[in-house]
Formats: sequence, C-alpha cells, structure tokens
Amino acid sequence: MDHNNYVIDQLISAKSIAARVEALAATISEHFKDTDKLVVVGLLRGSFVFIADLVRELDLPCEVDFLETSSYGNEMQSSREVRILKDLRGEIEGRDILVVEDIVDTGHTLKHVIGLLKSRNPARLEVCALLDKPSRREVDVKATWTGFEIPDEFVVGYGIDYAQRNRNLGYIGSVRFIQD
Ligand code: IMP
Ligand code: MG
Repeated sequence: MDHNNYVIDQLISAKSIAARVEALAATISEHFKDTDKLVVVGLLRGSFVFIADLVRELDLPCEVDFLETSSYGNEMQSSREVRILKDLRGEIEGRDILVVEDIVDTGHTLKHVIGLLKSRNPARLEVCALLDKPSRREVDVKATWTGFEIPDEFVVGYGIDYAQRNRNLGYIGSVRFIQD
C-alpha cells in the first residue's frame, strides 16, 4: 500500500472538542477540588495539544509532567509491548495524579502506565482520555473520564499523528486510503 495516498475526513470539529474539554475540566476540577498536590501527567507525544487545552480549563493548582512510551512507529498496529522512553521528572508518592492520554485503543499502553505509576504510591490516580475505541480493547482498562467514544477508525489531528504527520490539525479526522 502507498502510505502517502490518503485523505482525512473530519470526525470531530475543533468546536466540539473545545466544548468537551471545557466539560471534562469542570468534572475533573470538581473531583479534585481542594487538592494542593495534583500532578497532571501527559503521555507524549499524542496528548500534548489536549493537555495544553485541558490544564488551562482546570480550576485547580497543578503541576505538569510528561511520560513517553514507545509508540507504533510508522505502523497502524499496536506493538503491545510497552516501553518507557522518557520517565517523569518528579516524584509522585503521596501526590494526586491525573494521567492525560490521547487515545485508548488496545489498552496496553494505559494498563502499563497505570501499573507503573500506581507502584509509586500516589494518593489518587485518575485517567482522562480524549478518545476511546472500545471495540479495539484487548486488555481490561478504562479511563476515568473520556472525551469521545469513536469507532474503529485510524484518527489524526489535535496532537495525534499518522507517521508523525497531522498533529497540527485543529480537528480530529479519520485517515482514508485512496486505492488506485
Ligand atoms: P494502545 O496501547 O493500543 O491502547 O495504544 C495507545 C496509543 O496508540 C495511543 O496513545 C496513540 O498514541 C496510539 N494510537 C491508537 N490509536 C490511534 C489512532 O487511531 N491514530 C493515531 N494513534 C493511535
Ligand atoms: Mg499515545
């Protein structure tokens, strides 16, 4: 297949994303109200746009840290084996943690990250994922809060890439390959 020969069909508009992010932030602010020890942990690289918008809507004192796991490379399939490429800078023992993920797909990444972070004994740990593809799940894991459930489509935009491209789209679209 020619991996450059594709179009992007809009799935979720920038306006819908903004409204949903605002609602998620309100729910999260309520959940963690009165915290003075929240660390928002973004999973690189796909969550960088989402976390930037989300933290600016949070009505909470918080720190921001990042974790990078191994990705799909240029493939559309999960490798299933999750490796930590970049660990957190800060200690999280006794802290409240909000993990921010772009997509929960097979679930391997999130399951691994939750296990790792819980082993460091945070006070509370919750997960906010922008997108969820429940039909693709291979392991039992669920985000505490999800922006949108989507069908089994390969999506890009709003931080999410295909072969490192299209992260800079303001909306979320699905990749459709053109046969010739
Ligand atoms: P999982 O381990 O299979 O749940 O994969 C999670 C990671 O795969 C996400 O954090 C994304 O980075 C990536 N991923 C999953 N689905 C897509 C997609 O449709 N487009 C781009 N990246 C995706
Ligand atoms: Mg990711």
